[in-house]
Amino acid sequence: MHGYEKQVLRLKKRITITLGILFVVLTACRDTQPSGPPTDNSPDSLALLRGAFSMPENCQPCHPNHFSEWQTSMHAYAFEDPVFFRLNEIGQERSGNELDQFCIKCHSPLGSMFGETGPGFDRADLSELAQKGIQCDVCHLIKNFDRGHSITEFRTDRIRRGSIADPQANSYHDSEYDARYSTSAICSPCHDIISPLGVRVEATSTEWDASLYSAMGLECQACHMPLYSGKAATDGPQREVHRHTFTGVDIPLTDFPGKAQTIEAVTNLLQNSVSLSLQAPAQINAGENWQIAVTVGNDRTGHNIPSGSTFERQMWLEVRLLSADGAQVYFESGYLDDNGDLADHHSEQVANGDLPEDLQLKLYTGKAMLNGNEIPFFWEADAVELNTIPAFSSDHTVYTLPGIQTGGWVALSVSLKFRAFPPHVLRAIGLPELVREVPVFLMESITTNIEVL
Ligand code: HEC
Ligand code: HEC
Ligand code: HEC
Ligand code: HEC
Ligand code: HEC
Repeated sequence: MHGYEKQVLRLKKRITITLGILFVVLTACRDTQPSGPPTDNSPDSLALLRGAFSMPENCQPCHPNHFSEWQTSMHAYAFEDPVFFRLNEIGQERSGNELDQFCIKCHSPLGSMFGETGPGFDRADLSELAQKGIQCDVCHLIKNFDRGHSITEFRTDRIRRGSIADPQANSYHDSEYDARYSTSAICSPCHDIISPLGVRVEATSTEWDASLYSAMGLECQACHMPLYSGKAATDGPQREVHRHTFTGVDIPLTDFPGKAQTIEAVTNLLQNSVSLSLQAPAQINAGENWQIAVTVGNDRTGHNIPSGSTFERQMWLEVRLLSADGAQVYFESGYLDDNGDLADHHSEQVANGDLPEDLQLKLYTGKAMLNGNEIPFFWEADAVELNTIPAFSSDHTVYTLPGIQTGGWVALSVSLKFRAFPPHVLRAIGLPELVREVPVFLMESITTNIEVL
């Protein structure tokens, strides 16, 4: 059992006595507001700023675990991801470069702060620091930040801050305790996104705030930076330290360090995210339509599921009713077309009339909307329509299944599946070769046999 699962179980027992202190805790957990103006752009202050940062490779000799874990994380991938660069390009084209640093200020905060990522920039020409995405010092030199708008100011004193109250001295850097590192606030600059139009297009931090997890003080780190006993630095004492793999639902779609382990970690996380239950009759009457109900409970995820980039995420129910020998399919929902897309309005085959539309499809996802219509690019949205499940909530779906003509047994299976990107999105942005790199994860499944009378 994961550490966080134990915490969740304990949490469930304590929920009842916690509501009273909810107000106090929420007040205490509010973001730190930026206290001053962002760093100015004069050459002197830019040089000072650049001089403060070091490459992750400089941390590696003393922090080998932190380095090797971080290196495989989506934070390290944030400014490698071909989907990111393509979408940013599309955004700059569509807005005549008005989008400017909007995407980059989170995916490579240094590139943006150093002024290296102007219109038409080429990643290959950027400084090493800018190329590294969300690296050690992006987090450990944070001074001020603004929820949903990224980090607004970095420290130039080269003192690395973290949550160790009594850090051992070392020859490379001074260390200092900063309480914010053990709170969700430190993740909130980027894990909510406020678009140029002022719309909160992604809301993981806000969803967490609204959940009982925040009242209980079960921070993002409890699940995404689990504790282990080890050393914070090679020469340091034995401590409880934090994993830096930041496992979520995404995997690198191109060659990247630790890809196989990342896929395994995501599988494991997704198989420990929700509960699935099925209500189905033990017997049905031949020739009569009948019903089943499926409930998905978000009992172990600290925010909605899916969360964050909901526009790209798909979590769906696959329901299949087969003859006992598996030879005949009586009913199917959650099936894929030949392109790998679900059979809804995004499927080319459904649009061409080559495949029946999946009328009972249950898909958990988010839609970017403009003037009431779904649009492909989230940063242009004036609203977001979510079909996601909040923490500690559940969602109930009733399926009507067709009558079976002959007596005997039928086999029913219900599966909950997840993938990070739908194929139609990757095709639409001109990256069809990445479709085969996106795995479909099986989260939960139930099978049962039903007697036809
Ligand atoms: C996305 C932000 C982020 C990145 C990137 C990051 N860290 Fe951390 N790091 C944290 C947070 C947050 C904590 C404290 C977690 C807590 O106390 O709950 C931490 C803790 C630490 C600690 C203290 C020991 C421990 O594990 O608690 C060390 C040392 C450290 N990080 C080094 C690094 C190094 C080296 C890198 C790059 C290879 C790195 N970090 C990248 C956020 C980050
Ligand atoms: C010469 C070795 C050395 C190098 C190089 C080094 N560190 Fe450290 N660092 C340490 C030691 C030792 C500690 C204290 C560990 C302890 O007390 O358990 C530490 C502590 C930390 C902490 C925790 C501070 C706190 O109070 O919570 C952070 C964060 C950190 N280092 C980040 C970094 C980053 C980022 C780099 C690279 C830019 C880096 N370190 C490079 C040796 C080093
Ligand atoms: C500077 C901005 C920034 C900060 C601060 C930050 N993140 Fe992230 N995080 C990102 C970006 C950008 C990505 C996505 C990178 C990608 O997929 O290309 C990401 C990805 C992740 C993922 C993986 C999501 C997935 O779908 O696989 C997790 C988990 C995560 N972050 C947790 C955290 C936690 C916990 C903290 C606070 C300790 C934190 N992050 C702080 C920007 C940030
Ligand atoms: C109780 C455990 C728990 C807590 C607390 C928690 N998460 Fe998660 N998180 C999960 C699980 C499980 C998943 C995988 C299922 C999912 O996508 O929701 C996940 C997924 C994610 C993802 C990928 C979501 C997606 O669908 O694309 C991001 C990003 C993320 N978490 C960030 C955060 C941040 C930031 C916080 C704090 C504000 C946080 N998480 C708090 C358990 C947790
Ligand atoms: C306020 C910070 C922030 C801004 C601004 C931002 N992102 Fe992200 N981005 C994130 C975080 C956090 C994640 C991880 C969320 C998750 O996994 O659910 C992410 C994930 C992604 C991913 C990979 C995951 C996926 O499946 O979508 C892509 C691609 C991406 N962003 C592109 C962009 C583009 C393009 C823009 C600008 C139009 C942008 N981002 C603006 C923080 C930001």
